[in-house]
Amino acid sequence: MRLAVVGGGSTYTPELIDGFARLRDVLPVDELVLVDPAADRLELVGGLARRILARQGHPGRIVLTGDLDAGVEGADAVLLQLRVGGQDARREDETWPLECGCVGQETTGAGGLAKALRTVPVVLDIAERVRRRSPHAWIVDFTNPVGIVTRALLTAGHRAVGLCNVAIGFQRRFAALLDADPAGVSLDHVGLNHLTWERGVRLGGTDVLPKLIAEHGDTLADALRLPRTLLERLGVVPSYYLRYYYRHDEAVREQREGTSRAAEVAGIERRLLEMYADPALDRKPELLSRRGGAYYSEAAVALTASLLGRHGTGTGTGIVAGGGPGGGEDVQVVNVLNHGTLPFLPDDAVIEVPAAVGPHGARPLPVRPLEPLYAGLVAQVTAYEQLALEAALKGGRDRVFEALLCHPLVGQIDRAEQLTDSLLAHNRHHLAWA
Ligand code: G6P
Ligand code: MN
Repeated sequence: MRLAVVGGGSTYTPELIDGFARLRDVLPVDELVLVDPAADRLELVGGLARRILARQGHPGRIVLTGDLDAGVEGADAVLLQLRVGGQDARREDETWPLECGCVGQETTGAGGLAKALRTVPVVLDIAERVRRRSPHAWIVDFTNPVGIVTRALLTAGHRAVGLCNVAIGFQRRFAALLDADPAGVSLDHVGLNHLTWERGVRLGGTDVLPKLIAEHGDTLADALRLPRTLLERLGVVPSYYLRYYYRHDEAVREQREGTSRAAEVAGIERRLLEMYADPALDRKPELLSRRGGAYYSEAAVALTASLLGRHGTGTGTGIVAGGGPGGGEDVQVVNVLNHGTLPFLPDDAVIEVPAAVGPHGARPLPVRPLEPLYAGLVAQVTAYEQLALEAALKGGRDRVFEALLCHPLVGQIDRAEQLTDSLLAHNRHHLAWA
């Protein structure tokens, strides 16, 4: 089995390698190609990757290359985890929206639109080259904004599935609070990428979400920085990203006073790269846990294994809600085409729900009707994502403006105009059409 990781020079890669090494029964990788244009980083990250595999006695080979076409040639699956413009571009996405009183965030709001505009053309070009070199390869997209990028890939007919670690993060967190094996904990997880709610948590056939909220409401609410009373009243656990909607103005005030996440991450990355350069280091360092990618490797290994037909390999990451998988399928929360699952959305919208995953791809499982409180936001953000994708594909100031005007966190003409100007000013060198 040959896998390629595009953006393989990321400081996140040791997390992924650690997963490949630990879960080699699930996903027996013979060759892992790390593709990255940044040769220095690739050397550092690749060196550590080799030492991690060696320590665990993993026979797999690590190949390092800056040549995308050669790297994806003959791959069974290609993982996309790139960041166009790096942390510098992210810092800008997190900064200029604040001038208009809007949240500065890498995937939510105006910053997320900037990221989508920079990223979609690059990812589509990569996917096209994957299709030419390895027409049967599955693309697992972890590249943000995952909802829009996955929609771009699927609309262009690529064999792709979008992945995020929010669901598996909740599964692990709930399991720990319940003192249960994560494999037995399944989520009624619904929404769009980075706009989801947990409406139920099944353990041994019972919905334990009311008990989780009653007994651990403070812990959960503190981690999400949302009021416990909200969780109690609604009876759901929103994802962390809902704070940017439900407590938007508070988030803006804090961001204006504090440093950006990008600056923090850049500091962590500098230290990580220093550590990776140490030839004695042969495991992922603790510092990596200060990044947001916890359990990314487990989710990626499980999804890739299911897509490559390694059904039921006991990863414990299958998450079941509503309906069941067929033979040869596993259930995982992924980003897939809606196809009527949420009937109020277009078929070609991309939603994040439990899906039956097998060599055919990911098929969303039935979802019980979404309450208006969530459906309203989901519908509006889906419309924004559609407009964002059009802007990314076709370019043009008006399309950027329309996407912003449609976004529930923008929504006013003057603000949308000003944000459009800022977005274009800060991203001109990344946008071929601007
Ligand atoms: C979570 C999200 C990812 C995001 C990451 C950011 O894992 O699901 O989509 O990229 O957080 O983490 P960072 O450490 O870069 O802030
Ligand atoms: Mn994510």
